[in-house]
Amino acid sequence: MTTSDHLDCYAVLGQPIHHSLSPQIHAAFATQTGQALRYTAIEVAPADLISTLNQLPGDGFKGINITVPHKEAAWAYAQQHGTLSERAAMAGAVNTIAWTPNGIIGDNTDGQGLLNDLQQRHGLNLAGKRILLLGAGGATRGVVLPLLAAAPTTLVIANRTDTRAVELANLFTPKAVAAGCLLHGCGLDALPQVISATGPFDIVINATSASLGGEAIPLPAGTLSANGFAYDMMYGKAPTAFLEAQRAAGVIHLADGLGMLVEQAAVAFALWRGIAPATQPVYNALRAQLAQK
Ligand code: ATR
Repeated sequence: MTTSDHLDCYAVLGQPIHHSLSPQIHAAFATQTGQALRYTAIEVAPADLISTLNQLPGDGFKGINITVPHKEAAWAYAQQHGTLSERAAMAGAVNTIAWTPNGIIGDNTDGQGLLNDLQQRHGLNLAGKRILLLGAGGATRGVVLPLLAAAPTTLVIANRTDTRAVELANLFTPKAVAAGCLLHGCGLDALPQVISATGPFDIVINATSASLGGEAIPLPAGTLSANGFAYDMMYGKAPTAFLEAQRAAGVIHLADGLGMLVEQAAVAFALWRGIAPATQPVYNALRAQLAQK
């Protein structure tokens, strides 16, 4: 991994990693902003993660992204050897590391990436809205704090296994109270009661991994308000099973997670390079590429 020139190096670490779009995204950001850097994908087995993290700075690496299955281990590494941003500390997962003159910074840009996609690309204002967040795994935990910062009135975390949703809601309750948001955790099967008691949601976000297996999440009729918005963090050539089911249920405003992927990358790029790239041209190129697959 040692480089023969003096370009700043970046990479995404994961296993498997061959499918990653991150090298393409960051190469596009670098060209667009005139930043001289190299960004590669490195396949790393869990047993090799720590030694790889120890080695990379000496090889000229200034930062990395971390993806499945290493985000929690990277969190522990950054906590032990450096500083965690608050959003990373609470997410329990790190997707971005920066090696700076002041040490190691561990961050999590997923939640801000989601917010930027929802607010800037899809034109949503989350303030005062009722949001339903599906799932209680790492993807959910990574976005709760940034969602609360956008000042919704209500955030309900609903999960197949209700105890995980309740635990997550409990973890973030002090932050929700400070943000003036009503935060509630429940099972998916409790949604009919929640909706009949408090009304429909403005936005539903699927943060489960169900779409990976082509499965939709059964939601009660009337989950979304008439002008409601359905979002899936997953993406693909075709709409995900979740989005298809929402469309069949009459929802008009739908979006997948391709924009979140580009936006979380842009937040990481800005952290490393101090310059925010324009995301829309990169998003458009990836969308066109996906359609041709
Ligand atoms: P990640 O880090 O990607 O969030 P995870 O921690 O394994 O992955 O969590 C996966 C999430 O998707 C969980 O909330 C899981 O529900 P359970 O906690 O009940 O396992 C949810 N999930 C996965 N497949 C699902 C399905 N077919 N229907 C509903 N929820 C599903």
